[in-house]
Order: sequence, then C-alpha cells, then structure tokens
Amino acid sequence: MASNRNGVQRGSAKFDRPLKPRPRPSSPSPGSALRRANPAARNADAVPGRVRVAVRLRPRNAEEMMADADFADCVELQPELKRLKLRRNNWDSDTYEFDEVLTEFASQKRVYEVVAKPVVESVLDGYNGTVMAYGQTGTGKTFTLGRLGEVDASDRGIMVRSMEDIFADLSPNTDSVTVSYLQLYMETLQDLLNPANDNIPIVEDPRSGDVSMPGATLVEITDQHSFLELLRVGEANRIAANTKLNTESSRSHAILMVHIKRSVLESEDIVSSQNGDASHLTKPSKPLVRKSKLVVVDLAGSERVHKSGVC
Ligand SMILES: Nc1ncnc2c1ncn2[C@@H]1O[C@H](COP(=O)(O)OP(=O)(O)OP(=O)(O)O)[C@@H](O)[C@H]1O
Ligand SMILES: [Mg+2]
Repeated sequence: MASNRNGVQRGSAKFDRPLKPRPRPSSPSPGSALRRANPAARNADAVPGRVRVAVRLRPRNAEEMMADADFADCVELQPELKRLKLRRNNWDSDTYEFDEVLTEFASQKRVYEVVAKPVVESVLDGYNGTVMAYGQTGTGKTFTLGRLGEVDASDRGIMVRSMEDIFADLSPNTDSVTVSYLQLYMETLQDLLNPANDNIPIVEDPRSGDVSMPGATLVEITDQHSFLELLRVGEANRIAANTKLNTESSRSHAILMVHIKRSVLESEDIVSSQNGDASHLTKPSKPLVRKSKLVVVDLAGSERVHKSGVC
C-alpha cells in the first residue's frame, strides 16, 4: 500500500498478466534497502499470470506548489530501473522495485497501455482480469481509472479506454457486453446503478467457484455512449466527502464489472488410423459461448485517515 512520508503523494495500480523477463538490476548501494512492491517480481519467469504492480506519481497540485514541498529531496523515480527511492535522510534510503514506474509526466494513454491494455487483451481472449488502484487519499486513483475525458479527451481513464478497446474487438452481431457497477461502503455492497438496491450478498458457487452478486443490476451495453452514461450515473451515486487532502475524495470502494460473452467456433482435430496410417481429420466446428470478466476496482484511500482529517 502507499504511504505518506514527507508529503509524498503516490498511488499504485495492480494488474495481472505475465511479466516479460527482464535483467535483474544491480544490487542497491550501501545504506539503502531494496524492497519489492511485489515479492513475486523476483521470480517473474517462474510465476506466470501473477499479480503485477505499477506505481504512478501524480504531479504536484497548486497547494503543494505553494507550500514548495521538497518532493525532489525525498522521492526519486528511476523508471528505467523500475524503482522508486524514498530518502529518509542524506545517508539512508529505501528503494522499492515495481513492475512499472510511471512518472508525473506519464499520460493517461501511456498509463492505460502499460497497465490495463494487456489485461483487457487477455479478457478478450477469454481470461478473467482485474485492474485495481490503491494508494492514499488524493494520490490519483479515481483520476487514473475513472476520468471520462469530457472536457479533454486525452484525460480518459482506464475504464473508458478499456471499453473502447472492448467494443473495437467485439462483433456486435454475435457478442455481448453487460456491466454492473457497485460500491463497497461500510462493509455493505450497494448498487451504483440503483442505490435503493443495497446490502447485495456475495455468493460463491461451491462447485464451480464462481462468485456472483444476486440482485446487482446488469446493464447490456451496446455502444460507448451508453457506457459513459452508465459511468456518470454510477459516479453521481458514489459516496464522496471532503477530506483535507482531496476535495473529490471517494469514500467507498467502486467495482466496475464488465462481463463479456463471445461466440467462438471451436474445431476439433481428430487423429484416425486406417491401415496403420495416421491421418488428421477436422471435425466440423461447433459454436461455443466463451465468457470472461474484466473487473476494475477504485479503492477509497482511507488508510491513515487520522492524517487526512476524515475523522
Ligand atoms: N496524473 C494526474 N494529473 C493531474 N491531476 C491529477 C493526477 N492525478 C490526480 N490528479 C488530481 O489530484 C486530485 C486527487 O485525485 P483523485 O481524486 O483521483 O485521488 P484518489 O486517489 O482517488 O483519492 P481518494 O482515495 O480520496 O478518492 C484530483 O483533483 C485529480 O484531478
Ligand atoms: Mg478516489
């Protein structure tokens, strides 16, 4: 999880997809400690499909500029080494290693392409995938995931860009997309598309292991315009309250679930043996429905609440 030391503002996104092998970085210098944000990073090759962790540093806001906070002295990003260094003092620092390190200059497009696009591609191939943003309040989780880009299209966040790629890949005649948008607030699950629908249970099928939320609104989406409308409705219903650190603070965890059903044709290769000669036959293709799910989670950054003035 993100911490708040010396006013450092950072947020992280988790995403799961195999990491490309990369050379092991050299050892840290004396007086510093190297920590892995994701311990599995050490054995990236041995852990296919593991959770990957990226860190994004947001630009300083007007208040921080005014305060002339010494960020440069306490936080240093090393994007080429995929490391973030937090300096305790002149001779002591902690270095954290991530799968991706995104500086304050990283565009929304780049963040999407590095963090979420690989997950979306896997989902379109039939896997389930999750992108989750976590970090202290005001670090940019909702900005990274939920921006609609109505004023400036380049601001579009991960939710909007994911759906654009999904629609670009699906075939409208044979495939379908349904969406539910929920929030977890005070330990209860509420429907952001129908707030009267609260206390939604979470049910796990003991046989298949499938998790479902009976009663949650599921809306079939056929175009990007109706998806944006759905996000607007959800955002309006999301509980927000001011904190000292972030005037647009999310006080609930938001969970967007995108269910995809694709029609695929599966052909079967059969090996037959006649007179000792093996020959390959292809059985006629049979139509199948392939289901997969993309989950995007925008956590409420309410840890260290005593510092943020929430309570
Ligand atoms: N990369 C960025 N570039 C410019 N502004 C940003 C960026 N990231 C965040 N901001 C701005 O910082 C403020 C806080 O961002 P945001 O609301 O996304 O934080 P959060 O992590 O969701 O906080 P909370 O946990 O309280 O909901 C917003 O005004 C947002 O517009
Ligand atoms: Mg938020």
